[in-house]
Amino acid sequence: MKKAIYPGSFDPVTLGHIDVIERASKLFDYLIIGVLNNRAKNPLFSVEERVSMLEKVSEALPNVEVRSFGGLTVDFAKDCGANAVVRGLRAVTDFEYELQIAQLNRVISPVIDTVFLTTNLKYAYLSSSTVKEVAAFGGDISSFVTPYVENAIHKKLAKKRDSLGTE
Ligand code: PNS
Repeated sequence: MKKAIYPGSFDPVTLGHIDVIERASKLFDYLIIGVLNNRAKNPLFSVEERVSMLEKVSEALPNVEVRSFGGLTVDFAKDCGANAVVRGLRAVTDFEYELQIAQLNRVISPVIDTVFLTTNLKYAYLSSSTVKEVAAFGGDISSFVTPYVENAIHKKLAKKRDSLGTE
């Protein structure tokens, strides 16, 4: 069985991520989406919320599972019994960073390979950070995320605004 992991922060999952998930789920027999549990990155969504959003968007894909992880990606891959790590490449600006991580991971764990999927051109400009920024300034994010995620972002930002207002 060809098993791969697709690790990331997914704060939150965008249509670009979903495109990679759908394509990777066709290339591999089984795909485990790994949501990084890293509070140091100060995510907008908790790891549980990010896992839940990913479960929702991947529910139609029977060979896709969502888990959270902490620590090294290569250790997570081993725990999952996977020997491939999937990453999306949007533009040449991603390449240097991704190549460095892939090479580092290969030194730490030579049995695990990184497979890059070039992002659909439609989503080449898209990132979780820009989606959050557009939403925070009241812009329309409906072409970047699913309606479920769009709603979750608006709710979260409203809650944040309320808590700042009461401080
Ligand atoms: O969605 P992101 O934030 O670009 O994902 C980055 C991620 C989670 C793939 C990367 O930060 C990662 O692999 N973190 C786990 C720690 C690790 O393995 N570090 C070694 C490579 S830097």
